[in-house]
Amino acid sequence: MKKILILPGDGIGPEIVAEARKVLDCLRENHGLQVEVEEGLLGGCAVDAEGAPLPESTLALARQADAILLGAVGGPKWDTIERALRPERGLLGIRAALELYANLRPAVLFPALAGASTLRPEVVAGLDIMIVRELTGGIYFGEPRGIRTLDSGERQGFNTEVYSESEIERIGRTAFEAARKRDGRVCSVDKANVLEVSELWREVMERVARDYPDVALSHMYVDNAAMQLVRDPRQFDVVVTGNLFGDILSDTAAMLTGSIGMLPSASLNAEGRGMYEPIHGSAPDIAGQGVANPLATIMSLGMMLRYSLNEVALAEQVQKAVESVVEQGLRTADIAAPDTRAVSTAEMGDAVVAALN
Ligand code: IPM
Ligand code: MG
Repeated sequence: MKKILILPGDGIGPEIVAEARKVLDCLRENHGLQVEVEEGLLGGCAVDAEGAPLPESTLALARQADAILLGAVGGPKWDTIERALRPERGLLGIRAALELYANLRPAVLFPALAGASTLRPEVVAGLDIMIVRELTGGIYFGEPRGIRTLDSGERQGFNTEVYSESEIERIGRTAFEAARKRDGRVCSVDKANVLEVSELWREVMERVARDYPDVALSHMYVDNAAMQLVRDPRQFDVVVTGNLFGDILSDTAAMLTGSIGMLPSASLNAEGRGMYEPIHGSAPDIAGQGVANPLATIMSLGMMLRYSLNEVALAEQVQKAVESVVEQGLRTADIAAPDTRAVSTAEMGDAVVAALN
């Protein structure tokens, strides 16, 4: 039987994961899904309980799991502790340990939410972009890194942006495969006018493209890509880019859809095992109030069904259930129009379960 590990994390993490858990339990009880479920600690809660953001016990559970559902990690309580103990280190550590190099971040606009975007509805209507972000390389992990003291006594911070051909090639293949199932277009985003690492990135993308004659490859500098995402986002189908550029561009793409509370993500390794998480953070400012939007986490569960559990029909049912509650007009505070009643985190989760049944 497939094993799922749930890591609620910090802030709103436990609240939103509880709603995804209701959906998961419903799938097990009423829709024939057979999975084993375990829970573990990651992030600030793990620092508090075990003294490390990614305890050995969690890593062991993660290695045995076919898929992981993560809420979110981090919060002000841990912002000032030493860098190695920060909750974010736990997240980066698990991505690296499981080699989850392929991060899929779809930005899809629900028609009923076109008015929630800060861009005009006619600019974002029908938006459907897939950002493919490289997740285990680049400047996030490159060595050397650190803060050193120069002879002058001044301190200097430094990091290294580094990509090897094999790393570029495998994320390129992920993007081209994704494009094949979509509109057949890949836009590779880099900074090849300045950085050697991007020069190589471009060259390898061109090489990979030869294996996918049915997919059209274009290149764009990252500054232009940031502009084009807000100028005319519908020009994009699949965007493939490195770790840091992907971090930045995926937040921008998320906001085009009206709420960062609506976007799921998948982080996959070469065997298709993966970690699934909403792309928003732990939102400590609203934690514990029962107002967070659980839909991104529930849709992350949907991506897990599709990509790691091979349950495509159930994945589609979850997606349909989410669409139907949004169409019914249910809104958590982040997507509610001013002066309308917002539903709670739990009400939203219950509604998705009701729609599934
Ligand atoms: C993300 C987040 C993380 C990242 C942080 C929390 C380390 O911003 O998943 O986009 O930068 O990758
Ligand atoms: Mg980010």
